[in-house]
Amino acid sequence: MLSANNKTAMASNKSSRTHQALALLLFFLLTLSSAHAKDGIAMYWGQKNGDGTLTSICDTGNFEIVNLASLSTFGCGRTPEWNFAGHCRPWSRCKKLAPEIKHCQRNGVKVFLSLGGADGFYSLCSPEDAKSVSDYLYNNFLSGRKGPFGSVYLDGIDLDIEGGSNLYWDDLARGLDTRRKQDRYFYLSAAPECSFTDHYLDTAIRTWLFDYIFVQFYNNPPCQYSNGDASRLLSSWNTWTSYVKRNNTVFMGLPAGPDAAPSGGYISPQDLCTKVLPTIKHTPNYGGVMLWDRYRDITNHYGDQIKDCVEVDDSVRGSQTLMATLSNTVYECVSAAFNRIVPKLRPF
Ligand SMILES: *[C@@H]1O[C@H](CO)[C@@H](O)[C@H](O)[C@H]1NC(C)=O
Repeated sequence: MLSANNKTAMASNKSSRTHQALALLLFFLLTLSSAHAKDGIAMYWGQKNGDGTLTSICDTGNFEIVNLASLSTFGCGRTPEWNFAGHCRPWSRCKKLAPEIKHCQRNGVKVFLSLGGADGFYSLCSPEDAKSVSDYLYNNFLSGRKGPFGSVYLDGIDLDIEGGSNLYWDDLARGLDTRRKQDRYFYLSAAPECSFTDHYLDTAIRTWLFDYIFVQFYNNPPCQYSNGDASRLLSSWNTWTSYVKRNNTVFMGLPAGPDAAPSGGYISPQDLCTKVLPTIKHTPNYGGVMLWDRYRDITNHYGDQIKDCVEVDDSVRGSQTLMATLSNTVYECVSAAFNRIVPKLRPF
């Protein structure tokens, strides 16, 4: 029989081993989540000839994601068609982009195909139609098989749905998610407007399947920056970032020049770095800044000017990661894993 003293010693031994196990788990989770959470700038390219080559964007070292804009015709039986301004004719193979896409990827830049846009002919007619569009996208752009760019594995699909109908975009997201789970993972992003909730994309956003949400805080006076006043912008940012899940990384979408958004929302790089970013960087699902578009970025050097203040420094990152780690699903993972380990540690 154990003496009372022995029991106490064993109990405290057990609890210190339990603490060690918990500390180890947290350490792994912290390492994991900081490897995932790299913040940066996402850039739209392809709507003006003056926006240069894809290679030249990726060589700046300023960007983490490039969105090729846009696949502007698809769905309801339409023959898919893109609009890349003068870069490629409206609908022809655009194989010259394949080596440039690969160049970007080798340099650590993710390349997404953006669907939709302000001008286009697109909509989905049924869940089956959504499924066939997701198959089309997978086969032509995400599988390495021969498609209109040649053989490429794009890193993701972006939904910038601003017209047509608001139906079945959730089915499209689910269709793509099924494909990425079967084979190679690719990212999904959505670019809603800041007016909450987004008319076209809300149902899709509520699948929570989007790795990135590029909220457009421009051309929307009720939720954008104006005349030095960031209050509406910040309040809308809080609404969005608390609405989506912690694993849906939110980017603040902004015009790269005053003329990029006729109805406003432009923030000078100085104001962004001093009045906006220091606040929003503390949001656990902050991912960085999205810019529309590369053409204005070239003239304004916007990315060059904001690059250093977009990144979250390590002290903020630490507390942010800890918060994210202890939240939502991750918390459940910790307790599930913990419960599995604890019985094994029991000395009795
Ligand atoms: C985010 O987590 C939810 C569970 O809360 C999951 O259903 C969803 O697939 C995840 N999304 C991403 C992009 O990983």
